[in-house]
Amino acid sequence: MPDEAYWESFFNPDCIVGRLDCYGPADVIEFGCGYGHFTVAAAKLVTGTMYALDIDPQMVAATASRAADAGLANVAALERDFIADGCGRPDGSAGYAMLFNILHIEEPVALLREAYRTLAPGGKLGMIHWKHDDATPRGPSLAIRPRPEQCRRWAEEAGFEYVRDEDLCCCSWHWGMVLQRPGGRG
Ligand SMILES: C[S@@+](CC[C@H](N)C(=O)[O-])C[C@H]1O[C@@H](n2cnc3c(N)ncnc32)[C@H](O)[C@@H]1O
Repeated sequence: MPDEAYWESFFNPDCIVGRLDCYGPADVIEFGCGYGHFTVAAAKLVTGTMYALDIDPQMVAATASRAADAGLANVAALERDFIADGCGRPDGSAGYAMLFNILHIEEPVALLREAYRTLAPGGKLGMIHWKHDDATPRGPSLAIRPRPEQCRRWAEEAGFEYVRDEDLCCCSWHWGMVLQRPGGRG
């Protein structure tokens, strides 16, 4: 990850999580929380527990500290390799899953299946990633950077239903999308 302040300059996390339907009473699982910018924004909008997972202990510590500074008591920042070991949350237990800037990993469909497993029927998935554009100041190399159409196909392969693309007007370099685990009361 680049320097924390530099990374933060690319996003308006409050705007992004709100636009991607991350709010309400249920638990949220964030796959790869990094410095916790989106963790804190989401934790302010939900009354359930915000499970922020990362393989890197420094990122977990940064997230826990950011949540404490914000006075949030509903953040569980946990060190976890969710590719090797799964996310550790029970089946159908969450109302929202976040896959933000992570779908360039080697096995995106496996990760999407893990997110799907944890969501209750009707639970939502928010995805963002860097636009596929040479001008972006950061982001994975274009060779491995997934386009939104590709991410949508992967998510559908994992069982999700497409809800909508979301224009992240608050953030120039990223696209956003909302999907849903089918079922629930609609
Ligand atoms: C590019 S960063 C994005 C962080 C955050 N979602 C954001 O957008 O600010 C990806 C994060 O995923 C974490 N990560 C990558 N592979 C992982 C794995 N297998 N298990 C847990 N975390 C992982 C990295 O340590 C890193 O913090």
